[in-house]
Amino acid sequence: MKHSYQQGFRNKLFALTKVTALAALLGASFGALAEPVEIKFSHVVAENTPKGQMALKFKSLVEERLPGEYKVSVFPNSQLFGDNNELAALLLNDVQLVAPSLSKFERYTKKLQIFDLPFLFDDMAAVDRFQQSEAGQKLLNSMNRKGIVGLGYLHNGMKQFSANNPLHLPKDAEGEKFRIMASDVIAAQFDAIGAIPVKKPFSEVFTLLQTRAIDGQENTWSNTYSKKFYEVQSHITESNHGVLDYMVVTSDTFWKGLPKDKRDVIKKSLDEAIAFGNEIAAAKDEEDKQAILASGRSTLVTLTPAQRQQWVNAMKPVWAKFEDQIGKDMIEAALAANKQ
Ligand code: SIN
Repeated sequence: MKHSYQQGFRNKLFALTKVTALAALLGASFGALAEPVEIKFSHVVAENTPKGQMALKFKSLVEERLPGEYKVSVFPNSQLFGDNNELAALLLNDVQLVAPSLSKFERYTKKLQIFDLPFLFDDMAAVDRFQQSEAGQKLLNSMNRKGIVGLGYLHNGMKQFSANNPLHLPKDAEGEKFRIMASDVIAAQFDAIGAIPVKKPFSEVFTLLQTRAIDGQENTWSNTYSKKFYEVQSHITESNHGVLDYMVVTSDTFWKGLPKDKRDVIKKSLDEAIAFGNEIAAAKDEEDKQAILASGRSTLVTLTPAQRQQWVNAMKPVWAKFEDQIGKDMIEAALAANKQ
């Protein structure tokens, strides 16, 4: 009897050990099999641009710091979502990070229209100072009530006009069709010089230019180079008339749903990736301009100070039209950034 009790106990112990070992084994293999959380980052530009490089840097930092737990899938060139649907996709959690140009948030806030006012910023250093100022940082939260969280600004650069004729003066653009981003301020800017603004997604610009459905466009050196616009535009006017920068945004639902410690790592990685992207932006601006000039496909139009002043005089009245929506105090804060 005693023997059989001991035997039974040993059998039970053996069985329990087997179950524990099996559970440990299964746990280990479930752990090994558990899929990392995927963060999809969609954008519309090429990989050899400030935004393209920033997104790849972000991927490598997150995957190095949270190995096996998080993976970042980057979709460039409007492969996953384009201008017309990326913010809607973000709110549906079909993508977790996007970085549209500041001109493309108009449906969600009018406050960011400040970045589209022509001839507002003297240069990229002033843009940077404004973005980092209290007023600029406040704008990161301007879409919170719509469920969009601004995580940081990323530079691309100042915009130049391109066309199939040399644009020396505003009158040279009269009656010409220019592709623009979906911004009422930019539309007003072209209306002010008697040109015809046509709102179209970035993915369509090359074909529209190539087929002469439009006559010109405005963009940074890096976008004009990476998307080969210079191959189908005979002239580029170095006007530096506006800024094309980005806001990296996520959805409130996704962001708040992350465990705090992981969110901190992801934010730190993004800040570092943005700093990296900003360095690339500064370098590429000149590099890509030189590459375009060296190609001989497009001729540079350099404005004299008097010619440039005519563009300023023609376009600056646009500010007054949008002052109420943007806020006078915001415009003053931006102008103050020029003077430092
Ligand atoms: C971008 O840089 O993301 C695109 C800019 C444009 O639509 O022209």
